Amino acid sequence: AKALVERILAFSRSGLGERAPVHVQSVVEETLDMLAAALPAGVRLEKALDAGDAAVVGDATQLHQVVMNLCTNAAHAMEHGGVLTVAIHHVEIPERRLLSHGTLSPCLYIRLVVSDTGPGIPPTVLERMFDPFFTTKGAGEGTGLGLSLVHSIVADLGGAIDVATKVGEGTIFAIWLPVAGQAARPVAETVRDLPRGNGEAVMIVDDERSLVMFAEETLAELGYEPTGFDSSVDALQAFSADPRRFDLVLTDETMPDLSGTELAREIRRLRPDIPIVLMSGYSGAQLTERAHAVGVIDVLRKPLVSRNIAEPLARALTAGR
Ligand SMILES: Nc1ncnc2c1ncn2[C@@H]1O[C@H](COP(=O)(O)OP(=O)(O)OP(=O)(O)O)[C@@H](O)[C@H]1O
Ligand SMILES: [Mg+2]
Repeated sequence: AKALVERILAFSRSGLGERAPVHVQSVVEETLDMLAAALPAGVRLEKALDAGDAAVVGDATQLHQVVMNLCTNAAHAMEHGGVLTVAIHHVEIPERRLLSHGTLSPCLYIRLVVSDTGPGIPPTVLERMFDPFFTTKGAGEGTGLGLSLVHSIVADLGGAIDVATKVGEGTIFAIWLPVAGQAARPVAETVRDLPRGNGEAVMIVDDERSLVMFAEETLAELGYEPTGFDSSVDALQAFSADPRRFDLVLTDETMPDLSGTELAREIRRLRPDIPIVLMSGYSGAQLTERAHAVGVIDVLRKPLVSRNIAEPLARALTAGR
């Protein structure tokens, strides 16, 4: 869930990431693959990804968060459909250049452009949108931390931001990041190399629908039979109606009404032998302790791409047998 607490933790963590060369192209590709599964029907995604093997110094999660937040904002701005364009290119900057948010010194940059054909951003919002907690969304809909997170990460990566917007036409966010040489593309483990399921029924619980859909897709690709719930209360009801229906439960932690660990406790009460795996936007000793106390077998960190989830699921199922 993008609950407030998780976003704040991500926010405070953003400056503390590991610093290593990050292969920009592959991180952006992977983020867009995740995003594509969750885009509203009327939004078309156009990609022009041409960063080659350029590296920026930072941590891949930071870059992932920048792309995710900008694209999520763009998608929200196009509720009634439109085109989301994401592009990355090299650009050489020969002399100092002033942007709307920051200054570029002469060097080689990667420019990441996220543009939408939404309503544009009025001046009053433009002035304040990078402030923490500034949101025009309703209570419970937006935390207002998305862009402030983007801002602090870009600063951390030594970059700058340029925003161009026209009311009625759309918005272009350009993120400029200084290139630090090249990195080898991380070897993509193909789904074939990962341990696979064998039709086991997996209950997936997350209050964010798009993440449920993404997890369903990932698990189906790995050979499982996923069933998603976007309410932990509904999930518990389904489980108590037929405790033998599922072979494994994969649940988010931060959810309204009934958290993942609370759900786990109730489910273990109904069926003590069922393996339960918790996923969370953040992890920490406290959460791990609380999770193990209620019988959770493993705690996974989001995002749950196949290569992070295949091993733990296979392990959890073997342990549960
Ligand atoms: N592409 C965009 N088009 C129009 N308005 C935008 C766009 N991106 C951001 N905004 C405006 O900036 C505000 C702040 O964005 P920010 O990402 O910081 O928070 P949020 O999107 O409201 O909340 P959250 O990120 O937690 O969902 C938004 O509420 C919206 O009004
Ligand atoms: Mg946002």
